[in-house]
Amino acid sequence: MFFSTHDKLYVLTHLCVILEQIDTLNRYKIDKIFPTKVDYLYNRAPEDFCLDMTYFSIYETFNAFKYSMDIQLIAKMTGIKIQNTNMVKSIPFYCPDFEQDELLSTFSFFPSLLISIAFMFTSVFTTGNIVAEKANKMKEYLKLVVYSFQVVSFTLLLSQFFNKPFNAKVVLLIIWIFSVVNFYDEIPTSVIKYLFAVFPNLGLVFSFQVLFQFERSSKNFHIAQLFENIYEDPLKLGAILISMLAWSILYFPITWYLENILPGDFGLPLPFYFPLTKNYWFPQNLDKNFSKYEAEAESDRPSFEKEPSNLKKTVSINNLSKTFKTFRRSKKAVKNISINFYENQITGLLGHNGAGKTTTTFMLCGMFPPTSGNARMMGLDLRNQMDQIRPILGFCPQVDILLEDFTVEEHLKLVLMIKGFPKSKFIEELERISNFVGLQKDLKKRSKNLSGGMKRRLMVALALIGDSKIIILDEPTSGLDPFNRVKLWELIRRYKNNHTIILTTHFMEEADALSDRIAIMNHGEIKCCGSPIFLKNYYGNEFENLLKKYLSDYQIEIDVAAEICISFPFDKANLLSDFLNDLETDKNKLGVDSYGISSSTIEEVFLKVGKIDHKAEDSNKMNNFVNIDENAFNETLFNF
Ligand SMILES: Nc1ncnc2c1ncn2[C@@H]1O[C@H](COP(=O)(O)OP(=O)(O)OP(=O)(O)O)[C@@H](O)[C@H]1O
Ligand SMILES: [Mg+2]
Repeated sequence: MFFSTHDKLYVLTHLCVILEQIDTLNRYKIDKIFPTKVDYLYNRAPEDFCLDMTYFSIYETFNAFKYSMDIQLIAKMTGIKIQNTNMVKSIPFYCPDFEQDELLSTFSFFPSLLISIAFMFTSVFTTGNIVAEKANKMKEYLKLVVYSFQVVSFTLLLSQFFNKPFNAKVVLLIIWIFSVVNFYDEIPTSVIKYLFAVFPNLGLVFSFQVLFQFERSSKNFHIAQLFENIYEDPLKLGAILISMLAWSILYFPITWYLENILPGDFGLPLPFYFPLTKNYWFPQNLDKNFSKYEAEAESDRPSFEKEPSNLKKTVSINNLSKTFKTFRRSKKAVKNISINFYENQITGLLGHNGAGKTTTTFMLCGMFPPTSGNARMMGLDLRNQMDQIRPILGFCPQVDILLEDFTVEEHLKLVLMIKGFPKSKFIEELERISNFVGLQKDLKKRSKNLSGGMKRRLMVALALIGDSKIIILDEPTSGLDPFNRVKLWELIRRYKNNHTIILTTHFMEEADALSDRIAIMNHGEIKCCGSPIFLKNYYGNEFENLLKKYLSDYQIEIDVAAEICISFPFDKANLLSDFLNDLETDKNKLGVDSYGISSSTIEEVFLKVGKIDHKAEDSNKMNNFVNIDENAFNETLFNF
């Protein structure tokens, strides 16, 4: 066969065979003549190879060399001289049909790059926004059906892993850029390649590769060819689209699962096995016998008044704790608190800055997951039934959270919609609440145009609207002037029938004026709880008794916020050390944080002289003064 002269075609075939052999043996650097498979399939158009003269000149030089060798060999071994060399022809190696379109070949990478860049910004910023607002507004922007669908679901999925928008944006950007670069051509088409379509950009890149194979051949792509291909190791467009779609659909249950178990900084995480719990799929209705849930009894402590027995216990907190863990340290903001709240009552949670009031209210609203402990509201479990609790819960946070361009009416309607309030009763409820808080004339005003006091009233209205049975108000009067504060007190007081109101404040007079029961928080613990009269008697008596015991002629001189200044005659100075001893021993019990002693300054002597004159002038005023002092006295004691 090698030396056959019977048919010139054999010689040519032989040449081809030799060429291929040389190719596999890698002699004559034939690999440069023949493109690699990957080059041929994805990277270069057929015309690149067929028209590229560098390949052909090597090929032809080689052919000429081989041809002369063959002629010589044949002549030598058969004795036949081939005179007419035209009888031997070289045929260029196979070149498929192709459209000669330089632009198409040069820019084949371009559409996928362009589309992914176009989507990159929407995606990066949307991920940021979703993380920031946990809301999704991007669907409108996206038009490319499968790709956009996958981008949306991918973005939603990715946003579950982050709490900080900046981190989410950076990670998405990195994934985006790396997945638009195609490192994957060397991988033979198999399931693995389709698995790579997990990243939307790679699906896009693969799809365009297949489309361009069709474009570069003379066969234009037709929808019927979704599962066809023109080369032997093909990616199939239909299969890529199906895997992209499959991934997109798969992202949703994963997103839903992660959203439930990793809700971020705000929100209650469900246990990892929550899809297996009955309550998740068949939520229980309100438990009519909810009063049976008891908080751990703290009432045996003397600073806790006996709980009211005639009222319905609606909220019961049981050993609730919250520890904030940051990178370096952990902070116990709320420590094992147990307390009950009752219907028809306003319960004041009183405490200084940082006492843990807001953290407690956030836990009750499901914004922070408790570190340990639990609570029940109307018999519903805080950890597992927050979805059922939300419609009966109204919350006014410490700072106004309003949408600048929304009107008062829109805010109120939004909350009604979120609470699932019956639409037919919207108008009635809206009027009732806006009249109640005195915003009926401002319904059409945008919230950015409201005064501070109006904003606060709107926040309170948002907590009351929609028939919330349990209302949590976190410092509702903060930032209000005294006049508006008293007005808001009046509103809150009028609303307590049939409702359970929990109100936090650090104003003692506010707690005193509004609350039926007061719980005083300090460093994350509830120190005492009871009606204002009970607390005044309990602490007032204890401290007063101590003062009377040693310094019977004492006088209250100054009372400013958390400080009280008591003076006593000099002849009692010998009892001072005993008094201070007892004070130190019972410091915690009496609620005294720190104390100091000094002898009178000239300024104090001067003021005192003035005060005595003043008292002599107006005995009525003196009575007021004494009353005020009494209040202040109690206030001071409450201020640990
Ligand atoms: N997200 C958080 N991360 C870390 N520590 C926090 C966080 N939120 C609150 N804390 C800490 O928990 C403690 C209680 O804070 P909290 O806001 O509950 O107090 P508060 O009683 O509401 O005070 P204020 O009267 O100032 O509103 C504070 O020491 C605070 O620094
Ligand atoms: Mg607070």
